Amino acid sequence: MDAITDANAHPPLDKPLLLTDCQMLIRVLKPADAHAYRSLMLAAYSAHPDAFSSTRHEREKKSLAWWQARLTDTKQPGSVVLGAHDDTGALCAVVGVSFKSQEKTRHKATLFGLYVAQDHRGQGLGRSLIEQAQQLASKRGGIKLMQLTVSETNPAAIALYRSCGFEQFGLESMAIALADRYISKLHMACLID
Ligand SMILES: CC(C)(COP(=O)(O)OP(=O)(O)OC[C@H]1O[C@@H](n2cnc3c(N)ncnc32)[C@H](O)[C@@H]1OP(=O)(O)O)[C@@H](O)C(=O)NCCC(=O)NCCS
Repeated sequence: MDAITDANAHPPLDKPLLLTDCQMLIRVLKPADAHAYRSLMLAAYSAHPDAFSSTRHEREKKSLAWWQARLTDTKQPGSVVLGAHDDTGALCAVVGVSFKSQEKTRHKATLFGLYVAQDHRGQGLGRSLIEQAQQLASKRGGIKLMQLTVSETNPAAIALYRSCGFEQFGLESMAIALADRYISKLHMACLID
């Protein structure tokens, strides 16, 4: 698949980054996408309580401004969310990357909030989103490492991250608490060129 690249160091905020094998455009989400982003993530928290640290209950109380703040379109945003839209224009898959500002830690980026709606799974969309997130971090400059956490009960996501170059460097016991059990999380990282 061909990336629609931009010569500038910063990712274009209004242009598609990639046309995937399943003919979906991936682009950086903007504050105007906050409502759709919120709806998709609330569905994700409901459908996969094992996979995310946040609950639907916590996040549905957040204001739209809180969701918009994740999608700021400043030049060096603290976080960027990539999204894919289906042929009806509905947002169907997302992933976020956050960046640190401290001098000693700003070489690290964090991947968060990966979700592909059920009907769109198994078509390479998750992989395309991660690859675009890695490219975006690389273009930003100064990023050497991308980190993430993933529940040990999530073999699909673990396999996907491994196939995208992430390796486990730690295991956090009892990382999240559900009503009836605790779940450990793998800490994974990949190098960014
Ligand atoms: C995990 C998830 C993002 C995968 O998205 P997807 O678009 O279906 O994944 P892709 O089609 O890009 O698959 C890429 C690779 O992931 C792995 N993978 C995906 N689904 C898998 C499954 N059900 N079982 C095992 N491996 C799987 C495979 O290695 C696959 O490569 P292959 O097709 O060559 O075998 C999706 O299932 C999802 O949103 N799950 C719920 C939310 C979640 O777990 N998010 C991650 C939080 S850390």
